[in-house]
Amino acid sequence: MKTDYSNYIYFYKQFSTSSGYYEACDYLSFQDDRWQGIEKYIDLIGCAISDTKKRLSKTKILMADMGCGAYGWLQRYFSESANKIICIDSNKDALNQIGSLKNPLAETIQDNAFSLGKIFSLGHKFDFVYCGFNVYEGFVDNFLKLTAPDGCIFLMKPKIGDDLILRSLVRNYDILPRYKEIAKITAALEKDAEIKYREEIFSWKFENESTDKLLAAMSVVCLGEQILMNREQYEIAVDFVKLRTSNDTVLMSQTFALWQAVKKDN
Ligand SMILES: C[S@@+](CC[C@H](N)C(=O)[O-])C[C@H]1O[C@@H](n2cnc3c(N)ncnc32)[C@H](O)[C@@H]1O
Repeated sequence: MKTDYSNYIYFYKQFSTSSGYYEACDYLSFQDDRWQGIEKYIDLIGCAISDTKKRLSKTKILMADMGCGAYGWLQRYFSESANKIICIDSNKDALNQIGSLKNPLAETIQDNAFSLGKIFSLGHKFDFVYCGFNVYEGFVDNFLKLTAPDGCIFLMKPKIGDDLILRSLVRNYDILPRYKEIAKITAALEKDAEIKYREEIFSWKFENESTDKLLAAMSVVCLGEQILMNREQYEIAVDFVKLRTSNDTVLMSQTFALWQAVKKDN
């Protein structure tokens, strides 16, 4: 496993731009079929959508993808179940990338999920609200207000995993507030929804990849904010990756907290 701090800096500079951030997300999560079991995750969302269509007796439903990023899960995999998908993100680059796919069912709106002023002004009640990889307790009340009775809110938040362990090692990240936030998300949803909560472990395989590129992508996406690690942090991170490496393959895993919340019909 060849590593070189200046090589790490070279990759970091590429990933630490606004659009480079999404290249880093793509590199870490989706490229080269590295996500082991992605089909299961797609299936979990798909089942929640099917259940929602059945409950509402509709074949096509109105969906919102909150913090859609450049990947846009709903428009990518579930357009056939939608009459419209509103893709919401605070980052214009992400929305431009979604827009360039020219999916006629996908509409992009730049908004902040903590306030969602533009979305509220549309006056919609969504049948299905999705938010993955980046959900906070402060989003939940708005999601509940924007969901139709018997509609579904599907949320995913990584609970623990190698990325968060790396964050703890190089930034003294404290995992306990994250666990507490997960409990608070459940409590906030319970106020106005029936919840099915579950946890699932997934892993990502990096075969014959550059450790410097992997660490640069993680520095941009996984450390809480974009941080160019200093040499000391970098050495700790390299040692951490070594522990996850066998036969030139790095295996990283994450446990997802998953909520399928059906809005009460008050
Ligand atoms: C880690 S990415 C996940 C993207 C996508 N959901 C996925 O699973 O690939 C997080 C996304 O949330 C967006 N985001 C972060 N805070 C936000 C906020 N307050 N309001 C709206 N979008 C936000 C970021 O711009 C980014 O595109």
